[in-house]
Amino acid sequence: MASDFEGKRALVTGSSSGLGEEIARRLAAEGASVVVHGRDAARTEAVAKSVRDAGGDASVAIGDLATDEGADAVAAAALAGGPVDILVNNVGVYDPSLSWTTVSAADWADIYNVNVISGVRMIQRLVPAMRERGWGRVIQISSVTGHRPQASQPHYAATNAARSNLAVSLSRELRGTGVTSNAIAAGGILVPNSVDHLVSMGREQGWGETWDEIEPNLVAALGPNDVGRIGRMDEYVGMVLFLAGPASGYVTGANLHVDGGWRDA
Ligand SMILES: NC(=O)c1ccc[n+]([C@@H]2O[C@H](COP(=O)([O-])OP(=O)(O)OC[C@H]3O[C@@H](n4cnc5c(N)ncnc54)[C@H](OP(=O)(O)O)[C@@H]3O)[C@@H](O)[C@H]2O)c1
Repeated sequence: MASDFEGKRALVTGSSSGLGEEIARRLAAEGASVVVHGRDAARTEAVAKSVRDAGGDASVAIGDLATDEGADAVAAAALAGGPVDILVNNVGVYDPSLSWTTVSAADWADIYNVNVISGVRMIQRLVPAMRERGWGRVIQISSVTGHRPQASQPHYAATNAARSNLAVSLSRELRGTGVTSNAIAAGGILVPNSVDHLVSMGREQGWGETWDEIEPNLVAALGPNDVGRIGRMDEYVGMVLFLAGPASGYVTGANLHVDGGWRDA
């Protein structure tokens, strides 16, 4: 049976680690040709190789999406293997230890450039060809903090409001073209890079010693939700696969949430 993603090519930005890596792996496992992207060539190639070793099709694109030149290089590398049908704008940085008193005006501008304009750069370079071909999927990875900001990292929360907002504007722009544009706000999702940090934060706060002890206390303190735990990557990626595939053709301009109900909890 043909897969939903057979013949489709997907660029997942920031897929050299974390959520992006998992999205790229799962798209490849479903039959898409994926372009794995990051700034570190060795780390990015290692992810692509392991996708290929698992039987998938993967190439790499290297570049800093905080610059126009980096975005040009990433678009050129992605398009070298054929057209891009699915763009997942996942690149983003965050740091929950930052606050209003520690974030400078320059930090606000820098994070907007990395978290928002990086995605705009790729939209500008790849979406016109999707429109010409009459089919495409554009997905902004976002966070519940865009709708439910906290006192910490206000600049990061504001970038997530922008990511969700621009997905709707792009949908209006793409009306009737066969290209959809949506955002998926993540609640806390456990990624490999954050486990050690969260465990040491939990120990400092007296929330427990082991991850199992710390997790419920951490969720109650930082992101109360109806499920009572942090989300797992596969739970988030399922929504990305739905939006990236053919079954989501009537879903556009949407801000979906994978957050255990945190948004309204
Ligand atoms: N994990 C969560 O709980 C959570 C919740 C809500 C939303 N999100 C969003 O999900 C996305 C991924 O987060 P994550 O937790 O998976 O983070 P991560 O593991 O740190 O991955 C971030 C990725 O972005 C890339 N990147 C960062 N700055 C870049 C730049 N200037 N140019 C090109 N690539 C750059 C990194 O590549 P390098 O290898 O080059 O550093 C890496 O591949 C982010 O947009 C984040 O806001 C995450």
